[in-house]
Amino acid sequence: MSNELEALLKEKRVFNPSTEIIEGSNIKKWMDKHNLKDYDELQEKSLENPQWFWNEIAGELEWFQLYKKVLKWDPPNVEWFLDGKTNIVHNALDRHIEGPHKDKIAFIWEGENGEVKKLSYNDLYMEVNRFANALKSLGVEKGDRVSIYLPMILELPIAMLACAKIGAIHSVVFSGFSAKAFADRINDAGSKIAITADGFNRRGKVIHLKNKVNEILKDTPSITNLLIVQHAGVEAVMKDGRDVWWHEIRDGMDSECETVSMDSEDPLFILYTSGTTGKPKGVVHVHGGYMVGVYATLKFVFDMKEEDIWWCAADIGWITGHSYIVYAPLIFGVTSIMYEGAPEYPNPGRLWRMLEDYKATIFYTAPTTIRMFMKYGEKWPQKYDLTSLRLLGSVGEPINPEAWVWYHKHIGGDKCPIMDTWWQTETGMHIITPLPISDLKPGSVFKPFPSIKVDVVDDDGESIIGGGGHLVIKSPWPAMFRNLYNNPDRYMETYWSTFPNIYLSGDVARQDENGYFWIQGREDDVMSVAGHRISSAEVESALVSHHDVAEAAVVGKADPIKGEVIYAFVILKQGIKRNSDLKNILKNHVRNEIGPIASPADIILVSDLPKTSSGKIMRRVIKAKVKGEPVGDISTLANPEAVDELDKDLVI
Ligand code: WT7
Repeated sequence: MSNELEALLKEKRVFNPSTEIIEGSNIKKWMDKHNLKDYDELQEKSLENPQWFWNEIAGELEWFQLYKKVLKWDPPNVEWFLDGKTNIVHNALDRHIEGPHKDKIAFIWEGENGEVKKLSYNDLYMEVNRFANALKSLGVEKGDRVSIYLPMILELPIAMLACAKIGAIHSVVFSGFSAKAFADRINDAGSKIAITADGFNRRGKVIHLKNKVNEILKDTPSITNLLIVQHAGVEAVMKDGRDVWWHEIRDGMDSECETVSMDSEDPLFILYTSGTTGKPKGVVHVHGGYMVGVYATLKFVFDMKEEDIWWCAADIGWITGHSYIVYAPLIFGVTSIMYEGAPEYPNPGRLWRMLEDYKATIFYTAPTTIRMFMKYGEKWPQKYDLTSLRLLGSVGEPINPEAWVWYHKHIGGDKCPIMDTWWQTETGMHIITPLPISDLKPGSVFKPFPSIKVDVVDDDGESIIGGGGHLVIKSPWPAMFRNLYNNPDRYMETYWSTFPNIYLSGDVARQDENGYFWIQGREDDVMSVAGHRISSAEVESALVSHHDVAEAAVVGKADPIKGEVIYAFVILKQGIKRNSDLKNILKNHVRNEIGPIASPADIILVSDLPKTSSGKIMRRVIKAKVKGEPVGDISTLANPEAVDELDKDLVI
């Protein structure tokens, strides 16, 4: 039995929150106000009447024109807060300037080199306005797309908010992706403006961005201007007439800018995520429902209070950062920590030192990070005073009970409940999650957020208790994505066609006898590498785009820290000389095509790959091989002999 499985079976403890946490929680106060005796009653009532629940929450935010109806659900088409007019930036920024949050710190930013910047709500408001005016001066209008390729610097939230303020749609691309990946996403979105930086700091080195972007802009015809943030202080080759320094254009701009009134259903952003084909999917979110959904979850799941110091240690380039670094905390008016660099730089005490320095009260990170710090040992967090912490969070992949218990003990001092939140780029907000009042079982994501109907079903769509099955969502939620950009057919096919009118998440899960959900992983050919979603097909298409490669099959292999690492099986074209250098060349090729996160941990050069009679590579068989499990039924294979070939790396 694997150590992990052993730990899972042994771990039967239930962790109950303290009375102090329960009594002080936003959810408990809210339930008391509505005369609900417990969470079960809240769930029951909100499932019966989601309009009631969401209307109560939406009423806490400001609308230029109040919506006339909460929900219209004609699956898969959904509309929330119909005929409502608002702008998420009005709630995240403008309204704070009129009230007590004006001079409060919105972001405490730390650079990897130790530089610290603090931005108040008023500072942020003025910077957003200046940059929004700069975008307008370049011709950006409501509905235009702006592609953003920035590291974790303050200009990233500023750029996003500036777009939203004037009704433009931002498309942020993770700065760890390659410039080529940025170009693909610019072209899919048809963006007018691109924004990047000269470079950024990572593990003591400067990573160049601007000069890499130069190479791809010749292939992005929709782009009229490129804006560049001067951050790392490295040379950037500028092109006359197209390239503009952020600080130069910003300096001449007015610090007031009108916030455009948006319909609840107007698009706010596109965020690309990996699917089962080589082409990423542009997930579209809207102003109204997204705003209400992320606000509600931060309020109840992370129990946000006025005096909290919040640190969501994700990258803004992913949905976690969009929802819980940028939008929800600002709507709440809290102070957030934002960090530029690598978590273990210059030593494994970095995060814990920052938690102590800024007296953070709530900390949200990914299991892969926790497992990495377990490896460095508890001596690192023990050097720091972490007693300011009240709550912890986990997201992105299943957390093994061993890591859960370590996190609870060594970071949370045995007193902070862990919110293991299950959600996706598509869901926009937490869907299955504990609340601070929940009794926790390590490794379980607890139960659905109020009003949301989640289920585990078999291939016929019948509910199952106790066994693994498809994780589906059977009711609408406000922050749900509305479409895939320019691709409604793929939207229908991927999410809504397996079970009619039911959202298919792509995960496998189990529900236990107490109604707790346990996520088991993806059921499609999407890998989870250090919490990042990477598609097998995307890495395969990057590999076959190399002139020496004939065919490729890519699968995930279990890894104790990263969850999964990428294994690539490659057939070379005839006459290509095999050597171990070639493996490095191919790994680098994937780095350039997609980014370092997609680079295979190993490449195995083979003579054949298992295929069906229609010529489709059977990844299932390859996965089983990599796991060391029996390959199962191979009677449908056109070339069963290929299975043994997988063991032979032709380099050796
Ligand atoms: C996939 C979504 C949601 C923000 C980060 C990832 C996996 C997410 C959990 C969790 C187990 C989880 C799922 C999901 N996942 N949270 N708490 N426990 N698995 O967003 O890139 O859209 O990936 O991440 O497999 O489908 P994403």
